[in-house]
Amino acid sequence: MPLMYNQDDKHKPPAIQLNNIRFQRGSHTVLKQLSISIPAGQWVAIAGCNGSGKSTLARLINGLLQASSGKIIIHGQPLQQEHIYDVRSQIGYIFASPDDQFIGLTVRDDIAFGLENLCLPREQIEQRIQTYAKLLHLTELLDRHPATLSGGQKQRAALAAVLAMQPSVLILDEATSMLDSHFRDQLLQCLQALHVEQQLTLITISHDIKELSAADRLIMLHDGVILADGKPEDLLIQQQLLKACRLEAPYVLELCKELRLQGIDIGESINEQEVLNKLWALLSSRSPIAIKSAR
Ligand SMILES: Nc1ncnc2c1ncn2[C@@H]1O[C@H](COP(=O)(O)OP(=O)(O)O)[C@@H](O)[C@H]1O
Ligand SMILES: [Mg+2]
Repeated sequence: MPLMYNQDDKHKPPAIQLNNIRFQRGSHTVLKQLSISIPAGQWVAIAGCNGSGKSTLARLINGLLQASSGKIIIHGQPLQQEHIYDVRSQIGYIFASPDDQFIGLTVRDDIAFGLENLCLPREQIEQRIQTYAKLLHLTELLDRHPATLSGGQKQRAALAAVLAMQPSVLILDEATSMLDSHFRDQLLQCLQALHVEQQLTLITISHDIKELSAADRLIMLHDGVILADGKPEDLLIQQQLLKACRLEAPYVLELCKELRLQGIDIGESINEQEVLNKLWALLSSRSPIAIKSAR
């Protein structure tokens, strides 16, 4: 269920502000004059086909790349080289391959690494390891070598290491794409809880309809420009947008369309519960004969 961000956040500067960002690689303009403002505590999903500039955008936000022109402002502070490390500690970034994100020999070492870099006292490091291991169901796995973990466990460990640093913004760049649907669901539940409990600003880059639908807002990129920016439930029902971003139509949307072809019009929605409620109301209001004759 989309969550509205806290009323108090209205008075805070946006978590991320991009003003006229352009990013050039040789003669290719990867991002073309992008302007986006993301309020603190909002969950923004980013979709777009391969090469549309999603990862470039993520890397610009956490300072791994520098824009060719334009301005990036993080929590009211312009992103400049001299405080790039402060900014990076505020912005957690997780990408697709969990193997490339492991630094330590055990899950515990891996979580500790970032905290040691923050120069936290030993007791606080131990406390955070325990807290985030518990949150991500990793307590039993703390002394395991990364090579002995499943893909889902590795990705949860990478998430714990990033979250333990208590970033104010978390970017997941196709971070669930290598996981099977069980682990993907698990991670999604975890993100939902973090978003609600810790008011974390989330940016999730994905091709997965479930993940895109879970966000407060969806930005669709195409060839370095914003094609659409709005509520996932409003955008994901538009066939031409789904096609431009090479997204599969959500299952419930297909169901709504099929039902309409059969003479049962309940509108269009990507919200499973809403569709179920409408169908239930329809079934309760019609006799079985009326439903049969509607076909
Ligand atoms: N290191 C690089 N060198 C040259 N071109 C790059 C590099 N990284 C990305 N690009 C180009 O930038 C465009 C956007 O890439 P990317 O941001 O990775 O897209 P996405 O994450 O949406 O797939 C692509 O056309 C890609 O070829
Ligand atoms: Mg990418």
